[in-house]
Order: sequence, then C-alpha cells, then structure tokens
Amino acid sequence: MSVKHFLDLDALDAATLNDILERAKTLKVEPKPLLAGRELAMIFEKPSTRTRVSFEVAMRQLGGHAVVLTTGDMQLGRGETYGDTAQVLSRYVDAMMIRTSSHGKLQALAEHSAVPVINGLTDRSHPCQIMADILTFEEQRGPIQGARVAWVGDANNVATSWIHAAERFGFDLHIASPKDLAPDPTLVAWAGSRLKLTRDPAEAVAGADAVVTDTWVSMGQQDADARVQALAPYQVNEALMARADKDAIFLHCLPAHRGQEVTDAVMDGPRSVVFDEAENRLHAQKGILAWCLS
Ligand code: CP
Ligand code: NVA
Repeated sequence: MSVKHFLDLDALDAATLNDILERAKTLKVEPKPLLAGRELAMIFEKPSTRTRVSFEVAMRQLGGHAVVLTTGDMQLGRGETYGDTAQVLSRYVDAMMIRTSSHGKLQALAEHSAVPVINGLTDRSHPCQIMADILTFEEQRGPIQGARVAWVGDANNVATSWIHAAERFGFDLHIASPKDLAPDPTLVAWAGSRLKLTRDPAEAVAGADAVVTDTWVSMGQQDADARVQALAPYQVNEALMARADKDAIFLHCLPAHRGQEVTDAVMDGPRSVVFDEAENRLHAQKGILAWCLS
C-alpha cells in the first residue's frame, strides 16, 4: 500500500475524508493509545501556536511522541535539500508534519519520504484546519453536506482548503472578495457549481449557515498596507452577521486581528465558536494521525 500522506483535501476522496472526520469524532470522546511508540517529526518554517500544540498533545494523547523542529535550527536552513531531509527523517520517525512557505517544499518532502507527510500549512492550503472547522460545524449545526458556508475576505490558503472541502463534502461555498484577491480561476473551474463568487459580502452571507474569515495579511505577505485597504469593506461585523441565517455560526482559524477582519462584538458574541474550533484542531489532528498511521 502506498504511503498515506495528508497533503491536501483535493488529493483525497470524499470517503477517506469522511473516515478521517469520523475517527476525529470518536477520538475526541475517547482517545486510545493507537500510536503507542510512534514518533512524529514536526518542521516549522513559520510561527504557530495551535498547529504546534495540538499536534504535540494529539500525539501524546494517542500514546506517541512528537519532535518539534524549526528550519532555522536544522541543516535545511543551511541548504540541505528537502528530499535528503525526508530520507533521513524517514529512518527516525513514523510520520512528518511540515509548515512551510512554499507548497513545493511540502511536495518535495512527501516525494522523498517513506513515511506519511502532513501539510501543516503552506502558501497554497491549510487542510488540517478545515477538518477541524468541519468537525466544529457539524457539532453546532449538523451535517455539512447541503449546508451553505460564506467566506468573506482574502481568498487565501485557508480559503483554498475550504474550496476543496466544498467539492468533497458537498456543501455550497459563497466567497466574497476583492477582484484581485479572488480564488485562482483553475481552482474555481475545479470546484464547479458548489462555489459562487461575488464582490459583495452581504450577498455572500445571505442565508449562510456559517460565516468564515481569516487575516487580511497572511504570514510572509509583504503588501500589508494595500491588502488592508482593499479588504476594509470585507470586515465581519454584527451588521454583516445579521444578514446570515439566524442560527449562523462564526468561524475563524485564528490568530484574529480584532478590529480588522472581525470586530470584538462578533469574536466574543453568541454566534462565535472560534475557541471550540481551536480546540477541535486537537481532535482533528488525532483523526488525521490515526488515518495516516493506520
Ligand atoms: N490556525 C492555525 O493554524 O493557527 P497557528 O498558526 O497558531 O498554528
Ligand atoms: N492565512 C493565514 C493562516 C494562519 C493560520 C496565514 O497563512 O498566515
């Protein structure tokens, strides 16, 4: 059997993604020592709070152990290739997770790894996050299949994984973004009729079961002033939330920039489930790790 990498939601079929989600739900209620004696190496090229802690604690709850590495402290930082690094780490650990600036580095690691590789965020996507988001949605609102989700703001790496999820899990995704920060046309074509694009946040959130946003300036992006200016009309505030379904939830992968993409009133308001969502990173990681190493 080939190595079970978790690189992107569009790389896995719907049955596999549902299997991972079910494992997460089960392991949330009752963690078992499924990964006793197993080792995970985590490579960080960018900062992290949730991804780092949730993976480390998930490994421990499943009976395994994690080694946390930063590229600056590794020979990767001095030019050792991702391919060679993957071959070396494959001799020590049972799985790897990487957070990196470039999707190509993730692919190079996976191509040369004899053990599963997990995408802990790249410039393209953030699939682990969306597994936690769907877990959170289903706890709050029931099955996501057939539901409507609105994304408001920059169509960034997190939005890309939402687009993949809409196609795979079968829900409608309405994205409101400025023209220059809209999803890639190839991705739009891939997603098909599940995806609707607009420039108007009010149109995107109308009747939505969940409203989602993210930072206006992702890690490593240089054009902060221009982005903040272009995205100012896309703030999620109480007036915008009032246009969604009366039971709509608010999701944000965090970290949030309060007063920019979301107001305090929404973050701390009754529709916000952002801290349940953050907790669910832990349980989603357990589902992902259990699948990769099963
Ligand atoms: N949402 C998320 O990935 O958070 P961290 O950057 O803290 O890992
Ligand atoms: N889009 C954000 C997500 C952070 C978890 C970034 O890439 O910085």
